[in-house]
Amino acid sequence: MKLVVIGGTGLIGSKLVKKLREHGHEAVAASPNNGVNSITGEGLAEALKGASVVIDVTNSPSWEDAEVLKFFETSTRNLLSYEAAGDVGHHVALSVVGTERLVASGFFRAKLAQENLIKASTVPYTIVRATQFFEFVEKIVDYSTEGNTVRMPPALIQPMAADDVASALAKIATHPAVNGTLEIGGPEQFGLDELARRSLAARQDPREVISDPQGRYYGIEVSERALLPDKDARLGETRFESWLTESAARVPNAHPQPTGVAS
Ligand SMILES: NC(=O)c1ccc[n+]([C@@H]2O[C@H](COP(=O)([O-])OP(=O)(O)OC[C@H]3O[C@@H](n4cnc5c(N)ncnc54)[C@H](OP(=O)(O)O)[C@@H]3O)[C@@H](O)[C@H]2O)c1
Repeated sequence: MKLVVIGGTGLIGSKLVKKLREHGHEAVAASPNNGVNSITGEGLAEALKGASVVIDVTNSPSWEDAEVLKFFETSTRNLLSYEAAGDVGHHVALSVVGTERLVASGFFRAKLAQENLIKASTVPYTIVRATQFFEFVEKIVDYSTEGNTVRMPPALIQPMAADDVASALAKIATHPAVNGTLEIGGPEQFGLDELARRSLAARQDPREVISDPQGRYYGIEVSERALLPDKDARLGETRFESWLTESAARVPNAHPQPTGVAS
């Protein structure tokens, strides 16, 4: 079976291509770096030749409201029209749990637009909504940082390892389309504030996390359960603490304490 991973060089895409190949499938990593562009259409027809499945794990280079919307709309329209013209029988797209509850953000309005285009197309599909990746927690923390302080709401989050996202996608993509949405998440729930504290502590980062009900998640207010998946979500196995330990071992002194500072 030939599967084309659009965005196959990204965080999820590169892991997914590797897993598909390990399972004996022909997996193509398609992205601008490899001469395939879902916005301009460059290289798409060639990459999709003989493909039965397309997995869209692209992300927009810009998260500015208008640009991110244009990216996901244009890219999704192009992919679906090339797939409909070819022999593709399953379009899999990676989206985000809670998207419709997060539309105060332009990024999530763009993801919702992407989902709606897929639902309206004639190509059989599976939308996979994942919770936030462990790899994304640092960015969430950075976004809410002012000076040495991080203001985080106590809203609940059930994050997951990118590796578990890729495993779930590999399984779903090699099964028939469900013409619906599946949710995937991590094995544990945390308050966002607690998650931020654990993430910083593991990196010996001195920033202080303040629990603040008015605090923002990536710039928007979130209610207590807005980021949580449904109870029937498929759950990854990797726990945040073990992922932190492993990633700290891979990147020693990722955030070393300042040294030689005069007191
Ligand atoms: N971050 C989270 O916590 C989270 C949670 C749930 C779902 N998601 C979703 O997961 C998806 C993948 O995220 P990620 O972190 O793996 O993304 P990423 O690492 O930023 O990778 C993005 C990929 O998109 C490709 N790309 C960019 N422009 C393209 C174009 N015009 N044509 C084809 N490919 C293009 C990039 O290719 P080049 O390398 O060639 O530039 C790269 O391979 C996103 O849609 C995101 O919404 C994220």
